[in-house]
Parts: sequence; C-alpha cells; structure tokens
Amino acid sequence: MRAPLFVVFFDIERKHFHMKATIAILSGDGIGPEVMKQALAVLDKVAARYGHEFAYQEALIGGIAIDKTGDPFPAESERVCEQSDAILLAAVGGPKWSDPTASVRPEQGLLRIRQHFGLFANLRPVKTHPALASHAPLRPELLEGVDILFVRELTGGVYFGQRQEQGDGGEAYDTMLYTTPEVERVAHVAFRAAQGRRKKLTSVDKANVLSSMRLWRRTVMKVYEDYSDVELEHLLVDACTMHLLTRPSSFDVVLAGNMFGDILSDEASVLAGSLGMLPSASLGSDTFGLYEPVHGSAPDIAGQGKANPIAMILSAAMMLRYSLRLEEEACAVESAVEQVLDDGARTADIAPRGDAYVSTEEFGQAVIAKLS
Ligand code: IPM
Ligand code: MG
Repeated sequence: MRAPLFVVFFDIERKHFHMKATIAILSGDGIGPEVMKQALAVLDKVAARYGHEFAYQEALIGGIAIDKTGDPFPAESERVCEQSDAILLAAVGGPKWSDPTASVRPEQGLLRIRQHFGLFANLRPVKTHPALASHAPLRPELLEGVDILFVRELTGGVYFGQRQEQGDGGEAYDTMLYTTPEVERVAHVAFRAAQGRRKKLTSVDKANVLSSMRLWRRTVMKVYEDYSDVELEHLLVDACTMHLLTRPSSFDVVLAGNMFGDILSDEASVLAGSLGMLPSASLGSDTFGLYEPVHGSAPDIAGQGKANPIAMILSAAMMLRYSLRLEEEACAVESAVEQVLDDGARTADIAPRGDAYVSTEEFGQAVIAKLS
C-alpha cells in the first residue's frame, strides 16, 4: 500500500489542497457496475470542483472474477489494490454462482480481501433521513433522531475460525474464536468513535452462552478503563435485536463481533428505509481502507436502472473522509445526497408504492448537480 500523496501543491487563492490518489475499482456483480458508475461520476465532480486527481484502476472480484479467472479474488486484483490508496467495491454474488455445493464462491473474494489487508474495523453508519421516516415500517416517531454507528469486527470470529465443510458423515462445523488483541483493537476504534459522537457505546455479545463472547465482554470492560467519558452498556445480541426496533434513537455506537454485526446491520437498515441507503468503511491500522455498500448485488433488479446508488455514493464519501482525509469534500457529497432526498427524488426501493421513481443514473446526476 502506498501512503496517499496528501499534498501535491497548495493553491493559495482557493485555499485547497490538491491531491492525487489512485483508487482500485472493484465493481463486481449484479447491480455493482451500475451503482459504481454513479459513485465515480460523483467523485469526478468532486475532483473537478476541488482540483484533485483521482486515477481509477479497475479490477475483478466475485462472480465475474470466477468466470474470467476461476478465482473470486485473483492475484492481479490483489496487486491493483496493493498499489492503490483505497478500494471502492460495489457488490458480489448472484444465482449463477450460488450453488451450495460449489467450493469456489464470490463471497470468498470479499472475505479474502478484508483479511488480506487486515481491515478489522467495519464502520456502518445508519441514519434515518426525516423524509424517509414514513417509508420505514416503524412508526415515524420512533425513528426521530436515529443516528447509529455500527462498528463490526471484520477479520475474526466465526467467519474466520476453523471449519470443516465436507464432513463424511453429515456433519459440519464452524468455530467462533476471538483473541484479546483482536477484541481490544476494534474496541478502541469504537470507543474513540463514541468520544467524537454522543459518548455512548453499546457492546453486543452472547456472554450468557458462548466462551468467546465472555472474553469479548471482559476485554471491552478492560478497554473501557481508558475511556471514562464514554457511557458503556452491554447487551446480549438477542435483546439487542429487539431494542434496535423499540428504542433505536437511544443507540450511539454499537460494537459487535463479525457475525452479530453482520446481522444487526441488516436489521438496522430497516430504520433507514432501505438497505440501498447504507454505506460502509473497512479500516485497518492506517489510512488504507475498503469502501462498500452494505447491500448485495441484487441480481433480480440488475440492469433495469432500479438500483439505489446512495449506499455506493456515500461509501465513496467515507473514502474521501477516512483514506484521503478530505473532510470538506466528504461532507459536500453527503449533503448533496440529503438535498436530493429533500427535493423528493426517490429510487424504486424508497418510492412510495405505485409512485413514480427516478433511475439510478438520474439520482446520480441529481447529486452531481448539487455539487456544482
Ligand atoms: C456483508 C455481507 C457479507 C458478510 C457476505 C456477502 C460475505 O453480508 O458485507 O454484510 O457477511 O460480511
Ligand atoms: Mg451482511
């Protein structure tokens, strides 16, 4: 990984740093290429307006990579990512590759890229845009002020424990393993995030049943000693699923292991009105990061202009913030998306039933127009 070239030159008149960055583009499968196209158009607009230079390097991942190379994350893609300052990834998977007996699957590409780059902290912000509160199935008053940051551990737990898939006698297992350092480093990320927000952290586990989750809770309590200004609550994961729906606005930062974080963040997408709204950032110990929507490849709507590009565009904004340190630009993109929603534009997934909706491309263009 190269460190980003933060300062290329300083334009005294415009008081802006001009940056050159190389970004790996992994569009993947299904709606991936369509939503990626809109995110890149938005980034091009940001580059033109603020005087940056973004070079895009395309590479294969997921089903399309299996079709072309037999490998869901081929060596060439790994090389492209290693030579980049950040990775933008859209989505992987589809019915063509979802045979449960197949030993090579698109999702393996995703897990390998996360592991290869040591991206242990997955940030998934969930906010309810006021104009969408009535679209969510929960009562609008429950959704007032919902603003949650999920911090999901991404390179450990049951996703990466020892497993046996082809047991000879109808038996298979996966192992949930966590080590103290693995829990510590992601807990620090979560506590620091809470310090910059409303200073509340909810740690999710299943300490009443699982040993790995008792280690999780003990470790979080120990790390907490460094963060006395934060309020810490522990919730069992089953209780957390319920509290997320009954008191969503009481959550600030939610810290969870790999699998529980996966499940809870999909549940929480209901609070935002659609899975198509949620971006994510996967970070390691430096500024390098992988940015991808929480949603999948939605093969059922691929190629029809129905995909919501918001999650992908907001993932690009997170990349501007965390990997390129362009906070002003990140805020400009986020605010442009909000304004387009305020104006009433809706993609198919967030349009009231029977109402007209705008296409993926039209939504992207509307965001770009706000950045002029
Ligand atoms: C996610 C996805 C992935 C995960 C799958 C596709 C491997 O659900 O990013 O949330 O479980 O991590
Ligand atoms: Mg998921």
